[in-house]
Amino acid sequence: SLKVVVIGGGSSYTPEIVEGMIRRHNSFPVTDIVLVDIEAGKEKLEVVGQLAARMIEAAGKAIRLSWTLDRKKALENADFVSTQIRVGGLKARALDERIPLSHGYIGQETNGAGGAFKAFRTIPVLMDIAKDIHNICPDAWMINFTNPAGMVTEALQKHAMHKKVIGVCNIPYNMRHSVAEILDVDPANVRIEFVGMNHFVFGKNIFVKGVNRTAEVLEKLASDNLDYSPANIVNIGWSKTFIEATKLLPSPYHEYYFHTKEVLQKDIKSFEEHGTRAEVVQQLEESLFDLYRNPDLRMKPKELEQRGGAYYSDVACSLMDSIYNDKGDIQTVNTRNNGAISDFADESVIEANCVISKDGPKPLAIGKLPYQVKGAILQMKAFEELVIQAAITGNYEDAYLAFIMNPLIADERDSKVLLDELLAAHQAYLPQF
Ligand code: G6P
Ligand code: MN
Repeated sequence: SLKVVVIGGGSSYTPEIVEGMIRRHNSFPVTDIVLVDIEAGKEKLEVVGQLAARMIEAAGKAIRLSWTLDRKKALENADFVSTQIRVGGLKARALDERIPLSHGYIGQETNGAGGAFKAFRTIPVLMDIAKDIHNICPDAWMINFTNPAGMVTEALQKHAMHKKVIGVCNIPYNMRHSVAEILDVDPANVRIEFVGMNHFVFGKNIFVKGVNRTAEVLEKLASDNLDYSPANIVNIGWSKTFIEATKLLPSPYHEYYFHTKEVLQKDIKSFEEHGTRAEVVQQLEESLFDLYRNPDLRMKPKELEQRGGAYYSDVACSLMDSIYNDKGDIQTVNTRNNGAISDFADESVIEANCVISKDGPKPLAIGKLPYQVKGAILQMKAFEELVIQAAITGNYEDAYLAFIMNPLIADERDSKVLLDELLAAHQAYLPQF
């Protein structure tokens, strides 16, 4: 048997991962899928479960599917556990976005003050899930999508007993596909040397079938007005000077750090027009669930592509496939540094190209951080470490230090104002503070 448990199974994204498993059934012959959710997600779980059952039936695959609120039971004999939860739901996300914005700061689910609070809410819950996995199915791989995925993965690597944890994100996948589009080549032939962390990763060299085409990509990125961002991020675009000086491929999330003023202006404008991204997503989700309820729908609907996380399932399923089949191919995931970046501690989690085998991911050597962005990357890692520390201990001063160390916050007085307001707003989900 081959059993996959999806924690947060009632998510609107679930039809993607189910589709991914159906498509790969020849090489990854999953026999059991269990979708797990909590009481508050019961209704969504039912709708998604029914749709997933129709998808499997329509594809004619011999996969047993079930859904439950009993996480411990679901974990019995699991081989892979994917985690895709949102502690506090979209309501909490809206607060992470609104509160900083109301004080003139970037309000974003994984960056700045909002990102820190998402980590504070999420890390204790994921620690709990990891503990269950350790006790019930210790050989299972935990594939974590839950944001902020990099920090969550590092927190688990450092503080949980269960070490078979891999963090995943669709951004490296998106960057590879954007490059393929820029060059008009097959994405399967594109390889980017990544350096950095989740939602703060840069591309160094870009190869197509072994030929280095970095210069060409960077030139096009700087000269054409390309839309290079997923649905949730404003696309300002990169100047020739920035690209020529850094000689790196930025991630779409770098818009927040290097175009802060402009992004803030645009975010405020779109906030005034239709609320924050969480509120837009809330609407999107409602119409997605209306579609899901239709008994004639037997596949993943196209509309799901309007979500920023679209294609995440490709990342998850390719990863499970390669572990299961001991493939030894290269994929970009979040894992322990183990010396790959020489400026980082071994236990830091990085987003890197890894060889994927039955023993999990092994990062390829990266060496020193590129001098051009070394400062920015080291500062972000220091911020992440403080966030993780605060998330585990509930120490107020560590949380405050994280805020003053974050380039999107930094202001001494406002850090405290933001921190106190967010602590009060999220109190129900912060048992550690
Ligand atoms: C990106 C990120 C994901 C994130 C998503 C948000 O693609 O990689 O980590 O969850 O966007 O998308 P949403 O549609 O929820 O705003
Ligand atoms: Mn992501």
